[in-house]
Amino acid sequence: MCGIVGYVGEKQASDIIIKGLERLEYRGYDSAGIALMNGQMDIKKGEGKVQNLKDKLKADPIKGVIGIGHTRWATHGAPNDINSHPHVSESGKIALVHNGIIENYSSLKKELENKGRTFKSETDTEVVAQLIEEIYEQGNGTFEQAVQLALQQVVGTYGLAILNIEEPDQMIVARKGSPLLLGIGDGEMFVASDASPIVEHTKQVVYLDDGEMAIVNKDGYDVKTIEDEELTKEVHELAMSVEEIEKRGYPHFMLKEIFEQPRAISDCLRGRLNLEDDTIHLGGIADQIDKLVDADRLIIAACGTSWHAGLVAEYLFEHLAKLPVEVEYASEFRYREALIDEDDVMLVISQSGETADTLAALRTAQERGALSLGVCNVVGSTIARDTDAGVYTHAGPEIGVASTKAFTTQVSVLVMMAILLGQKRGTIDQEYAKKLIHELNEIPGKVEEILEHSDSIKDMAKLFSYAPNFLYLGRTYNFPAALEGALKLKEISYIHAEGYPAAEMKHGPIALIDEMMPVVVVAATDHTNDKMISNIEEVKAREGRIISITGEENEEVINLSEFSCPIPETEDCLSPLLTAIPLQLLSYYIAVNRGCNVDQPRNLAKSVTVE
Ligand code: F6R
Repeated sequence: MCGIVGYVGEKQASDIIIKGLERLEYRGYDSAGIALMNGQMDIKKGEGKVQNLKDKLKADPIKGVIGIGHTRWATHGAPNDINSHPHVSESGKIALVHNGIIENYSSLKKELENKGRTFKSETDTEVVAQLIEEIYEQGNGTFEQAVQLALQQVVGTYGLAILNIEEPDQMIVARKGSPLLLGIGDGEMFVASDASPIVEHTKQVVYLDDGEMAIVNKDGYDVKTIEDEELTKEVHELAMSVEEIEKRGYPHFMLKEIFEQPRAISDCLRGRLNLEDDTIHLGGIADQIDKLVDADRLIIAACGTSWHAGLVAEYLFEHLAKLPVEVEYASEFRYREALIDEDDVMLVISQSGETADTLAALRTAQERGALSLGVCNVVGSTIARDTDAGVYTHAGPEIGVASTKAFTTQVSVLVMMAILLGQKRGTIDQEYAKKLIHELNEIPGKVEEILEHSDSIKDMAKLFSYAPNFLYLGRTYNFPAALEGALKLKEISYIHAEGYPAAEMKHGPIALIDEMMPVVVVAATDHTNDKMISNIEEVKAREGRIISITGEENEEVINLSEFSCPIPETEDCLSPLLTAIPLQLLSYYIAVNRGCNVDQPRNLAKSVTVE
């Protein structure tokens, strides 16, 4: 959350930064701003989307070949013009943009106020600009040293890009807990929170790690720690392409990403399923697999949709690998006195690979000696780099704030891990493993089939867009799918929705059911079908409106439903890969009918890099 872009070179920085901010807008869209140096510090900023900033710049352009930009997801201070980034020091000579939270900002602010500094905004960020200036003005060192000293006093997280009018050719960037990378061009350099604004300019990037800073000018960069130790960083080649981060004719990124799932799942499975000898190859964890085989317990930590994928994994690993699993909200795990040690394995799941809580849970597990594994989508992300081993989902960039293809590819990886582990631990019958491997290979085609019927879900969505509440019910593998369906609906359509294990309904939520209440039943697991049918009857007896997601041959459920989204038959443990699709489409079309901004839902941002 919050996006940072910086440019230094010979071109006009404004166009490059604005385009970059548009690419990063999914990380926050409360406000946007830009600072350019051209002998003076020119700043344009304000509440609202990047488009507002573009309009301001059109009416009153600013120029400069070095600059920084920001798109904000508000933490401290309302999303208004004054609190927008960039923030400047009192003299106006230093401007900076920030992603993260400065936890000790109020004590630092008091100290600076006592020294006579006045503040304009309510943000934690302004404190950093003022603190740097306070130190710099003491005249005991270079600007770079002032930045280092200031950052040594700061507690919290930051990705920062800083300009100083007295250093007109350079920008300083620094990272602790919030991602930042450098793009290396020919006579120009780029800085960004993630690769999406950089990829159209260069594929050569350097990822900064926590505690590192870089001094960047058009001809290159120096990386050092904030304690001034020089570093040599590896240059990575981006695998992402510009096409992947564009809408390509779809009205929203979310719809594009829903429809990309056959391709995304195929990419995820490619080279990993061996259909000749019915084995699975996961190169990323090959060196650690023996430790996983011998583990006492697997602890999974994640947030949001990734946590739902983790819940599916709990059923998978217990069923196929007979391995005890605990699934934790990363945000809770990090503050519990969790009992985890070197005999456990911690598996963290994260699309972005940057989620602050997930990262903190990972660090806790690592401190206690557990082997750490990651399932991430963003290549080169912090979690991907900091886990002992891991498997990429290869879903391609996910721009829509609501996760779609990230979920199905995470589940695909987790299915492969569970089968592989089951084979290694001797807990899965080889004939069954073979059946699952071959069936998994069929999943992209089955997802395609479901997508071919998206119009019927679109039509059905019109009839349910009125509803203020929804209930989602599922059992076993499809209980997490029900949770995920409810999350998708509430985040993009602002309809209150709850997911429940179907049997839990009668322990409370049944009181909510009346003729206005749509109840989405995810009835695609054979071995609990009879039980689901009883739950459907219980809803119907109270006049609830049943929408079912069920196997195309499950006539009993189809006949009991007011509306049904049939899915191709598959193995129970693979069914969330199919049930997820109608659930995503239903929430998408309802949100569109309600006029909601699907890709940028209110109050949300992608990649939650603050606690
Ligand atoms: C929901 C959604 C969020 C994320 C959560 C974790 O659609 O996108 O709930 O799943 O913020 O993000 P990652 O997977 O990047 O760690």
